[in-house]
Amino acid sequence: MNNESMRPGYVPLNSASKICLFGVGVSLSDCYQQLIQSLGRKPDYLCDNSPGKWGRQFWGVSCISPEELGRLGERIAVIITVRRYEDIHLQLSALGLKEIFVACFDRAYDIVGGIHRLGDEQLAVSHESFVNPVRGRWTLITGAARGIGRQIALGMAGLGSNIIAHSRQIAHTRELADSCAGLGVEVLPIAAELGDPQEVEALLDDLEANFPPIDLLFNNAAISLPCGADPWNIASADFQAHFSINTIAPIRICYRLIPAMMRRGFGRVINISSTIQKRPGEMAYACSKAALNKFVHDLAPSLEGTGVMMSLVCPGYVRTDMGGPNAPYSVESVIPGALLGAVLDGDINGRWFIAQDYAGLDLPTAMKKAKFYYAQDQEV
Ligand SMILES: NC(=O)c1ccc[n+]([C@@H]2O[C@H](COP(=O)([O-])OP(=O)(O)OC[C@H]3O[C@@H](n4cnc5c(N)ncnc54)[C@H](OP(=O)(O)O)[C@@H]3O)[C@@H](O)[C@H]2O)c1
Repeated sequence: MNNESMRPGYVPLNSASKICLFGVGVSLSDCYQQLIQSLGRKPDYLCDNSPGKWGRQFWGVSCISPEELGRLGERIAVIITVRRYEDIHLQLSALGLKEIFVACFDRAYDIVGGIHRLGDEQLAVSHESFVNPVRGRWTLITGAARGIGRQIALGMAGLGSNIIAHSRQIAHTRELADSCAGLGVEVLPIAAELGDPQEVEALLDDLEANFPPIDLLFNNAAISLPCGADPWNIASADFQAHFSINTIAPIRICYRLIPAMMRRGFGRVINISSTIQKRPGEMAYACSKAALNKFVHDLAPSLEGTGVMMSLVCPGYVRTDMGGPNAPYSVESVIPGALLGAVLDGDINGRWFIAQDYAGLDLPTAMKKAKFYYAQDQEV
């Protein structure tokens, strides 16, 4: 038993008289059946902040308003089912609710990874210092000249990692190198067209022969071209273009760089991907990202015990050249979430990090949140 579970009035989740699931959204829809199997019962209520859902039934359970939830008294256990749970915890605490949990979803397989008790301690800013595993190491970032890759490069340089900055033309990463001046790191540019298999192999030969050993890799460069909305009418050339750059190039880079990482006993490979495969549309792009995800899920187990770990990042819909000006999130918001696969140790091999879950947090607090979210041994 931990201190939390010994506090007076503690109600273990499995003996709560009533259970409410808060947040009737995508995560809950994807995992509802599994969640109720984990709980061993249906919830008594659902609750949501959207008035349009109040009074409606979902899976045969009524959705009530937060105000009604507050009137049910402090001994009802509330399980938050959205990933940005911090503000909802504050809202529920202000309503006098005490038994608050969060359902943590593993996005790789759409499963419930755990149901964890959520208190002030889990939400507090982290003051812990952390061992910085990237300082002085070399990180290769593909597509580092602009957008998300540039933010990742700035973030890694800020942590003291030297950068090998890839783009299509050496000149494209000049501005990045200037921006990193004064951070005490080296930035080496490299260029290749990732849609051309010969250029990819030449890039890898050049890296092997003429560059320092690479300990961290961000497979970030990708394209997303318009190719029509009719799923019966996507040209082979469109599939080929997306697969060569978004799937086959990252796979070739992994195949060439990871064995050397394994020999040195350390490596982090972070693949910038997308959860777009779950939504209709953008067929060629979505298929190429789904294939990359599959590659990571299948390769990751073979890395167990080697010191090398692979992960996936969904950056969210971000205002870049690819995302366009109407995307909801700023490009800066991908930091620190996009860096978690580089700095975390422990059980991260094969994991997804959803960058927007960590937007606005400092890195130590984001690391604390990720460890809490993915922990296997929480007391409920
Ligand atoms: N933006 C979003 O909303 C969003 C959402 C989900 C996932 N993502 C993923 O996030 C990653 C970065 O996206 P972004 O929005 O930052 O894209 P971006 O602004 O379009 O930047 C793309 C980067 O990739 C490089 N690149 C593009 N085509 C290339 C090719 N054929 N060969 C070599 N390099 C190439 C570009 O190099 P140059 O600068 O030399 O042209 C550029 O640096 C991608 O994997 C994307 O799929 C983005």
